[in-house]
Amino acid sequence: MQMESIVSLCKRRGFLFQSSEIYGGLNGFWDYGPLGVELKRNVREAWWQDMVSRHDDMSTLPGAPTPFSMEGLDCTILMHPQVWKCSGHYDLFHDFMVDCRESKKRYRHDQINGRWVEAKNKRIFVTAQAGDDEQQKMEQRALKFFNLRAKNSDDLQWDGGVTCLTEIEDFEQVVGPDAKKAGTLTEPREFNLMFKTFVGALSGEEGAAYLRPETAQGIFVNFKNVLDSTRHRLPLGIAQIGKSFRNEITPRNFTFRSREFEQMEIEFFCHPDQSADWYRYWRDRRMAWYTKLGISSDRMIMREHDDAELAHYSVGTADIEYAFPFMAEGEYGELEGISHRGDFDLRSHMEGKLDEKTCPLEVQLDEDGKPKWKGSGKDLSYRDDLTNEKYTPHVIEPSAGADRAALAFLCEAYTEDQAPDDKGKMQTRTVMRFHPRIAPMKAAVFPLVKKDGMPEKAKEVYLDLKREFNVFYDEKGAVGRRYRRQDEAGTPYCITVDGQTLTDGTVTIRDRDSLEQQRIKIDECAEVIRKRINDE
Ligand code: GAP
Repeated sequence: MQMESIVSLCKRRGFLFQSSEIYGGLNGFWDYGPLGVELKRNVREAWWQDMVSRHDDMSTLPGAPTPFSMEGLDCTILMHPQVWKCSGHYDLFHDFMVDCRESKKRYRHDQINGRWVEAKNKRIFVTAQAGDDEQQKMEQRALKFFNLRAKNSDDLQWDGGVTCLTEIEDFEQVVGPDAKKAGTLTEPREFNLMFKTFVGALSGEEGAAYLRPETAQGIFVNFKNVLDSTRHRLPLGIAQIGKSFRNEITPRNFTFRSREFEQMEIEFFCHPDQSADWYRYWRDRRMAWYTKLGISSDRMIMREHDDAELAHYSVGTADIEYAFPFMAEGEYGELEGISHRGDFDLRSHMEGKLDEKTCPLEVQLDEDGKPKWKGSGKDLSYRDDLTNEKYTPHVIEPSAGADRAALAFLCEAYTEDQAPDDKGKMQTRTVMRFHPRIAPMKAAVFPLVKKDGMPEKAKEVYLDLKREFNVFYDEKGAVGRRYRRQDEAGTPYCITVDGQTLTDGTVTIRDRDSLEQQRIKIDECAEVIRKRINDE
């Protein structure tokens, strides 16, 4: 219910629109409207400032083993196809899919759940897409299959609990999530998640290239360039923000799983002996970043992956997860992954073979026992000029999604409370309680009424603040209604020019959260906003 209200507010107020909506939309693609684009820009900007541009490389930061450097990078979306072979994405970035011959729908094999059920002397495995209402859907499908009415649901003999389709070997008795008959699902087939395109006029395989499924690889292949051009010593973090593309089988939950999305990634290069300490440092620092920007700690958890869950490159991963309102009670969705990638990527790009510990052997070697993919052959190791030690750095990777972060901030900000309207009557108010730093607009400026020189003065205040902040001017309608519109947009302050302003140069400034109104001098407005943005 709350998610529906959030989605509807996002469209109504211009945070998010479905891509190509006038043509019926394109599944898994989203456009940011006027408020959304500011929100996402602020998320990216906060990340870049906190991780890169305001980074203090002189001192040891709290919790960090040593001082370290941070640099930024902006790489292309299309890269040499060999990058994806050596990274493992070409071979391993797959989902297993099943198709339904009856409904013509395609499902992720591991996202279909089912239960055995018997009636009228027939036993079937009835399924539904994994989710909150799966049990209810399974029952409806079973009743339909056996041609029973809801009042006869006791005739269904359930056998065992909910089981994932991956546990079922023979699909003969399986009724697909949208099928009427049993046995219509195909065997699972692999499906690569990378979007393929062709570079130049060649449309054959020689021109084939892939839209990057992560920004990380651009950093690995530029590691030496950054090191040589900046002359930093390790530890060094290289950060990048940019679009990534995955042909997700089941894009869903608003922007949570999209096919085009933005990542904010750091590859942190360090000495192998220090890597465990840096892993802990980045896990804690990234968690604290979300809390500082307003994500409540009881809706966010840190979850360590168990061995079976680890990505092909990872020797340790922790996810920062958020209780998105579309998740079932007690469940969380991934906001960011912090991985200890070891030396997997640099080594693969040097040698063209994948780490034996983390990759199945068959993708490493060809029939002659030679590495299957040729690496760059370039030396991507590091020599410490003080100790003269040469080693392949280990990498810690905090990898966040800008869209997922923006969605979490939207969900966290959404609140309904009671506040008096223009006539003093209590009304339900929708308010987006964004942290002022990420709020799309920092203040709105209103003349109390549209006469007596108030609009002229208010425009002066507006233009002055606009030089530093994203502010909004509004003179239409009752002032109470104007406040409400700003509450919905998450604007922390509303500044009103009234009769008194014209005599003593003061305005009222209303706080979005406390609803308190203070009278301050016009000159003080910028300072009040600045302090609040910076948490002072
Ligand atoms: N370089 C490592 C990497 O890409 P990942 O866990 O696949 O790791 C990192 O992705 C982050 O990117 C996720 O935590 C999530 O925030 C975001 N992300 C991944 N797939 C996404 C999708 N389909 N839609 C939106 N965000 C996504």
